[in-house]
Amino acid sequence: MEIVLVTGGTGHLGRDVVARLKPKCRVRVLARSPGDDEGVEWVRGDLATGVGVAEAVSGVSSVVHAATYSPAAQRGYLRPADLWRSPPEVDVDGTLRLLEAAAREGVGHLAYISIVGVDRPRGPYLRMKLTAEELVRESGVPWSILRATQFHWLVDRMLGKAARLPVLPLPTRLPTQPADSGDFAEYVAECVAGGPAGRCEDFAGPEVLTLGELVDQWQWARGRPRRVLNLPAPAGLMRAGYMMTAPHGRRGTTSWSAWLGAHGPQ
Ligand SMILES: NC(=O)c1ccc[n+]([C@@H]2O[C@H](COP(=O)([O-])OP(=O)(O)OC[C@H]3O[C@@H](n4cnc5c(N)ncnc54)[C@H](OP(=O)(O)O)[C@@H]3O)[C@@H](O)[C@H]2O)c1
Repeated sequence: MEIVLVTGGTGHLGRDVVARLKPKCRVRVLARSPGDDEGVEWVRGDLATGVGVAEAVSGVSSVVHAATYSPAAQRGYLRPADLWRSPPEVDVDGTLRLLEAAAREGVGHLAYISIVGVDRPRGPYLRMKLTAEELVRESGVPWSILRATQFHWLVDRMLGKAARLPVLPLPTRLPTQPADSGDFAEYVAECVAGGPAGRCEDFAGPEVLTLGELVDQWQWARGRPRRVLNLPAPAGLMRAGYMMTAPHGRRGTTSWSAWLGAHGPQ
């Protein structure tokens, strides 16, 4: 049976990918803190230091590279420093280490997980994702790149933090199209089965919502009503918003309201 390595296999998307791959192949996960799922081969390692990377890649046919480190996503809100720097140790340096190890091992396919709209990155985290995509393309390892829009868990976490304020100042006309990481994981698993495909069709949630609609649904589901102060959305911001949606791409089926109904606060 083929072995597929999943980096970030303890994260939101990675857990969903592991669950979908397990019935089809042997799944190995590179993790800083291995889990207790006995159906997974755990390799203790760290992409930021390179520990365990060669061991994790040894003997695998494919890699799903879903590890990332975004302090802003972890805490659920932006600090001013996030606007000029995002730590590169995992997403850039770690991606390079992984690619070098995969090239040495003759891995047949590396599927890199990225973000819709990263071509015109706004902010350091997205710039890092674009740099990592370039490393993947130039690595010599056969590749696929799969981009998704914002995951529901992250939007929920960020709104939960923002709602600590009595008023939410937001550009409510901004378009959004959040996606379920489980729906996206189905697509990732299909891609693993299909082999290297280059830049794959973008993935997004089933509906485009304005930020105002998205916040309304969140407030209703979470029972945390806040006054929304409508900020103007200049043309540049609206363009950036549209860049982060993918209305003509592959769509998941789980709507924002359905996801909110099925999950507690993140
Ligand atoms: N979140 C979104 O809205 C979104 C949207 C589109 C695309 N994506 C992309 O989807 C991928 C997965 O995102 P996610 O939302 O699932 O992120 P997540 O829940 O934050 O998971 C990140 C994963 O990376 C692992 N990781 C962090 N630092 C590491 C290190 N030094 N060495 C090895 N592993 C490390 C984490 O392991 P620990 O358990 O040890 O922390 C965790 O398993 C990323 O490529 C992200 O850019 C995310």
